[in-house]
Amino acid sequence: MVDVILGLQWGDEGKGKIVDYFAPRYDVIARFQGGPNAGHTLYVGDKKVVLHQIPSGVFHENTVNLIGNGVVLDPVTLRKECATVAAFGIDVRKNLFISERTHLILPTHRALDKASEQSKGTDKIGSTLKGIGPAYMDKTGRNGLRVGDLLDKSFTTQYIKLRLKHQKILDSFNFTEDITAWEEEFFEAVEFLKELNIVNGEYFINDRLKKGQKVLAEGAQGSMLDVDFGTFPFVTSSSTISAGVCTGLGIAPQQIREVIGVTKAYCTRVGSGPFPTELLEETGDELRKLGNEFGATTGRPRRCGWIDLVALRFACMVNGVTQLVMTKTDVLDPFTEIEACEKYMVSGKEIDYIPFQMTRLDIQPIYKKIKGWNSSIENSKDFTSLPEKLRSYISYIDDAVGAKVKYISNGPGRDQIILVP
Ligand code: GDP
Ligand code: IMO
Ligand code: MG
Repeated sequence: MVDVILGLQWGDEGKGKIVDYFAPRYDVIARFQGGPNAGHTLYVGDKKVVLHQIPSGVFHENTVNLIGNGVVLDPVTLRKECATVAAFGIDVRKNLFISERTHLILPTHRALDKASEQSKGTDKIGSTLKGIGPAYMDKTGRNGLRVGDLLDKSFTTQYIKLRLKHQKILDSFNFTEDITAWEEEFFEAVEFLKELNIVNGEYFINDRLKKGQKVLAEGAQGSMLDVDFGTFPFVTSSSTISAGVCTGLGIAPQQIREVIGVTKAYCTRVGSGPFPTELLEETGDELRKLGNEFGATTGRPRRCGWIDLVALRFACMVNGVTQLVMTKTDVLDPFTEIEACEKYMVSGKEIDYIPFQMTRLDIQPIYKKIKGWNSSIENSKDFTSLPEKLRSYISYIDDAVGAKVKYISNGPGRDQIILVP
């Protein structure tokens, strides 16, 4: 049996914290897409940790963690992160496994990402510059190198061949930065990676499923950044939705049971692209300050706005969400009034669906005003102690989205989560 936890907005919904919370109920935690563009924050005791490549179950003794074939892996980031978790006494040689089919992010992928973004000028995607797009292009273009290739003696030759190809593209971009230091770091990290548990991911996971073990698949980027269904071209380069779990791990769709969608009580986005409910005035600044909305990977300030129910309904549809987790609910504590976007106004017409090319349209959100609870919930432990107005907000979201909010998160801490009966 496989359950999935994934983000329903443009990322940073708090997936890391929620995966960490649910992890003890599972035997395997598996990442199925994305790479070091992800920044998943969790707290171990009172210590904050941000994970980029390693699944968020890594701090639990009785779970193992798998980096699946659908991920793109930067050995340099992985090595640094292994050192971070080792400081907590975690031995990745015991609880981390990496699929041999996982594609590698090479130093030239990072250079290509930078060169491509520079060439786009004001039309840039606002990528994390981690080499994600170019690495996935080499996967679908059938050029990329995989973790399993590291163990073959031809690896260096294959690397040089691909590097030459990349150099030609970099030359066409007039990209002249010296990447020798990146390459040195890369080859050192490759030696480290070779010592880790490199496995056949699809047998690894299916053998465990056959034995009745439970798997939790952890999504990285949010659903609105999905390469097919997100706000293309302002998206990432992988399938972030639940369908990506099958191709990103090698499991059959019948194995999937719950799809747990994580949404903030409001909405944020980093990087460029459409964001209909973005608040460019002081309420946006207030949300950013209250929610500490700065990127966990790049430190960029996140764009902030009210919850977008049109996008949320869409995300629930394409994912088959069976339950919702609403995070950062406490961030709305000080407001006497909050808003929720129920529909869009496009060219004088009300619509309640996600249109084809959001970037070319002037989309105005149509809001419902909702009374805020205007009191602190960060110390609340159960549903009955929550303010009545918040309980009504939760029922309103249930009805508006057509999926039930089963948990609310009321702070970044591990124990700040409340079951909604
Ligand atoms: P992820 O990428 O989806 O894992 O999310 P990030 O880690 O990038 O961003 C979520 C941020 O919100 C992190 O700093 C978390 O510590 C924090 N966080 C998670 N849940 C809550 C919550 O319920 N309330 C508050 N105030 N912060 C939260
Ligand atoms: P987590 O896992 C928020 C955004 C980037 C950019 C676009 C493409 O922490 O939710 P990429 O580097 O993937 O080519 O960038 O996607 N993006 C994210 N935004 N959270 C993330 O991850 C993101 N990963 C990528 O800002 O707009
Ligand atoms: Mg994040």
